[in-house]
Amino acid sequence: MTSYIIEGGRRIDGSATCSGSKNASLPIIAASILNGKTTKLYHVPNIHDTNVTLEILKILGCKVTKNGGKIEINSKNMNSHEIPEHLMREMRSTVILAGAILGRFKEVTFSYPGGCDIGARPIDLHLTAFKKLGVTIEEGAGYIYCKCEKLIGNNIDFDFPSVGATENAILAAVLAEGTSVISNAAMEPEIIDLANILNKMGAKIVGAGTNVITVTGVKNLKEVGYDVMPDRIEAGTLLCSAAITGGRIELNNVIPEHITPIIRKLEETGCKLEVGENTIHLVAPKRLKAVDIKTMPYPGFPTDMQSIFAGTLTTAKGSSVIIENIFENRYKYVNELIRMGAKITVEGKMAVIKGVKRLCAATVEAADLRGGATLVLAGLSAKGTTRVNHIEYLLRGYENLDKKLNNMGAKITKVEEN
Ligand code: EPZ
Repeated sequence: MTSYIIEGGRRIDGSATCSGSKNASLPIIAASILNGKTTKLYHVPNIHDTNVTLEILKILGCKVTKNGGKIEINSKNMNSHEIPEHLMREMRSTVILAGAILGRFKEVTFSYPGGCDIGARPIDLHLTAFKKLGVTIEEGAGYIYCKCEKLIGNNIDFDFPSVGATENAILAAVLAEGTSVISNAAMEPEIIDLANILNKMGAKIVGAGTNVITVTGVKNLKEVGYDVMPDRIEAGTLLCSAAITGGRIELNNVIPEHITPIIRKLEETGCKLEVGENTIHLVAPKRLKAVDIKTMPYPGFPTDMQSIFAGTLTTAKGSSVIIENIFENRYKYVNELIRMGAKITVEGKMAVIKGVKRLCAATVEAADLRGGATLVLAGLSAKGTTRVNHIEYLLRGYENLDKKLNNMGAKITKVEEN
């Protein structure tokens, strides 16, 4: 087990640079399967989730070389379309590989994905999209087998704007015969990043970032180099680290328009923000004001920032109401914050946070990626020494978070215990 030992009560004061986006890198790595050639990616974060995805590509026969954030993938000799079950379980986003493998090989075998326990996380919308494209699906004990003679473009209309299902539909449709129109598509920036690299490869995708995406199938795709977009959730996390400690941060390599709702809400708490082209400067007040949050699909307030913002509001003046509309089990971190003296009640989708003057240091347990991040921020704010156990969850999605915070005045030590 890996833990962070945090000496709290210290203001964050300094600058940090966001890494490449985890949630853009994963489907973009999957896209490298489609061209059967070399794909060079830059700014891929060196985190567990990207490393597992690259591991799977290697097992499937791709040649993968890593040099820091530079990744080179040659999928020419890819010779298997069966995603190893033990790696499927490692995380949810492995299901994105299914669409890309289907797109290239017209068949794929995979199991139900694993990932953070923040809700049921079904993949019915993914499978519906595949069926619309002419795929037959056989579900057995723990595996799903998808096969088709050829992929035929079609209209795909999602009941919910699922990010992953939208990405999978695009990946499977790019080499299909004919045109696919994806309606009620997710509009997240990561979808735009995926469409950008695919169009750079020679795909014909129009409308990414809107709720109607049109994919005109092409015969093959070129080799390509691509620079992954900055991580917007890491950006929000680092801004909140300054907000919760009454500090100040100069944030670099951020796309402000990707996090407008977070900027707006931070301003509502009394933080002063100066927004540049790819920088944000934030100065926090001594004590934040309470605000209300409702998570929504993009461009609404992102569910991935729900726990992080809730933690930030535990010491605000007044009561905050949080409504989580995307996942049905994304309040697991609340009991851990209560152990640190937070006053939070949860009822269904709603959490009510009554601001307290100070949090108290404690030993707490991370149970998922973003829930773990909020415990780290709470530890920065609480006076005394907080120990956050199971930060393996954080290492899935944050590159060098402890180093970035320590460079801005935090005192975090990582300890490994077996
Ligand atoms: C992506 O997950 C992100 N992960 C998540 O970030 C993010 O929270 C989520 O989108 C929403 O923005 C990656 O991009 C790797 P969804 P995804 O499909 O694609 C339901 C993080 O912390 N649903 O948009 O799995 C689902 O149960 C992670 O970085 C179905 O019902 O999210 C959920 O309630 C956590 N059937 C809602 O839709 C389906 O077939 C949103 O899920 C698919 C989804």
